[in-house]
Amino acid sequence: MRFLITAGPTREPLDDVRFLSNRSTGRMGYEVAAAAVRGGHRAYLVTGPVEIAPPEGIQLARVTTAMEMHRVVMERLEWADALVMAAAVSDFRPRRRIKGKRKKHGGEDEVWVVELVRNPDILASAGKRKGDRVHVGFAVESRDLLANARAKLGSKHADMIVANLVSAFGAERSTAHFLTPEGSPRVFKDRPKGEIADEIVKFCVEWHAERAGKK
Ligand code: CTP
Repeated sequence: MRFLITAGPTREPLDDVRFLSNRSTGRMGYEVAAAAVRGGHRAYLVTGPVEIAPPEGIQLARVTTAMEMHRVVMERLEWADALVMAAAVSDFRPRRRIKGKRKKHGGEDEVWVVELVRNPDILASAGKRKGDRVHVGFAVESRDLLANARAKLGSKHADMIVANLVSAFGAERSTAHFLTPEGSPRVFKDRPKGEIADEIVKFCVEWHAERAGKK
């Protein structure tokens, strides 16, 4: 199968030296890419800026902003049998990117007001062109984990949402809940991210085979 995977944070520039971002390390997406290759599949990884080395045998596209990630994913979508959106895409970007480095203008009571506008929701846009592709999203929540994650299944037209608590950021192990439209959630408690990645790839393979069998 052909896996299109996103990983890492995005960076949304305020000026030429400053940006808004988040705590994603990219580890989960890189693990899914490695798991896909282990399983004998092809992997194309669209990655935000991270510190980890790419696994062997994958194609890589490096991006910085959510807008760039959106463009690359939409261009590659038709190629893929599975889309796994592990990236922590920034929902907002500064409306204006200041050229050069913003200087201080006033005294210590100076306030810098930044207006943020929405970025496209990549998983939701891809969901409108889903066809027979399997789509997996992630949900990171600080509360009401399962209810919030379940809502994302529908709003993003995903076949599965992997729900994590915020504490999963950067950790080597995590507890993941796999939510699908039917059935109760499957829980993988305190497991290395590599094992969770193998389970995600397995889900995609089974879903894909089942869909092919129905044709
Ligand atoms: N995602 C995306 N594009 C965005 C934001 C998120 O494709 N602009 C994807 C993420 O890669 C992830 C899933 O959507 O697979 C859920 O992301 P999350 O940030 O948890 O959800 P949000 O849609 O941002 O919802 P909210 O902020 O309301 O919790």
